[in-house]
Amino acid sequence: FDGNELRVWKYRCLLPVKREPVSLKEGGTPLYHATKLAEELGCKVYVKHEGANPSGSFKDRGMTVGVTKAIELGRNAVACASTGNTSASMAMYAAKAGLKAYVLLPAGKVALGKVAQALMHGAKVIGIRGNFDEALALVRKISEEEGFYLLNSVNPFRLEGQKTIAYEIVDEIGTPDRVVLPVGNAGNISAIYKGFKELKELGLIDSIPKMSGVQAEGANPIYKAVMECREDIDPVLKPETVATAIRIGQPVNAKKALRAIYESNGTAVQVSDEEIIRAQKDLAAKEGIGVEPASAASVAGLRKLVAEGVVERDETVVCITTGHLLKDPEAVIRACGQPIEVDASLEAIRAVL
Ligand code: F0G
Repeated sequence: FDGNELRVWKYRCLLPVKREPVSLKEGGTPLYHATKLAEELGCKVYVKHEGANPSGSFKDRGMTVGVTKAIELGRNAVACASTGNTSASMAMYAAKAGLKAYVLLPAGKVALGKVAQALMHGAKVIGIRGNFDEALALVRKISEEEGFYLLNSVNPFRLEGQKTIAYEIVDEIGTPDRVVLPVGNAGNISAIYKGFKELKELGLIDSIPKMSGVQAEGANPIYKAVMECREDIDPVLKPETVATAIRIGQPVNAKKALRAIYESNGTAVQVSDEEIIRAQKDLAAKEGIGVEPASAASVAGLRKLVAEGVVERDETVVCITTGHLLKDPEAVIRACGQPIEVDASLEAIRAVL
């Protein structure tokens, strides 16, 4: 395997699989210095754009490891519940590996681009009349019954792949003071923390960044637990947010995520749908970084942490933008409106310039 590329499998010696990876060249995503945001916020802001992965989200890092593990274990079918991105990524890697793929989605609540990916890559896609938390409970049961290899973030190999986000950040800029990211099922914050922790245990870094999780106001169980200094969550029974990727009320990795936040002296913050859309527009129009709403929550959260005085002025902060703008075109049209339509004449065009 090409070990010289700055991608997930560069860190193969720290990944628990033996066979040749099922890879679509995931990872090695760009880390942008967000100069305009830095100017606004008074700290050094980087954006790690996970939307640049092959399926357009960070899930590919987990899936390359998870699907490789499925093959290593001799399994022939994989399954997941998803708010969209996990299913798109799983379907893609299952296609590459020649595995059957089964997906449960909350019907009508998944962004169009993600459903399109899962369908085109050949997964069996089933919409349930219920939310993500219900879909996850169901897919866990069905997978056990049918012998499907479950690829939600309850699968530890998924998190092993996703921890490489931490390795790449350190490889490129050393240890930042803080990492800010959206939290849904709470796997990614746990995975990235694990990555930093391992680097510290190996003596490669001296400190661990403050892990700071951002949730939408309508889907905020981790935020509430942190505000009350609790080790576990109270589920949100009817989660709702424009950021459908993180429309989750009962995150399965809640305990791990809370540990990551407490042990790293991090925090959690909640943001409104309006703040999320404003951050999405600013990232796109001021920094040239196109992300889906859930990803923009990281920047909306950072803004809030700066306003609350939690982030200090000279901090180096990395915001993780987890998914690509094109994942959710309908949210974009709702935020920006339709393009202007005019007659096919120069006068008509000049009139609207
Ligand atoms: N951002 C995006 C774009 C996501 O798709 C997700 C999770 C998250 C953030 C939150 O990550 O769950 O590890 O805390 N999406 C899952 C899915 C739930 O099914 O695609 P997390």
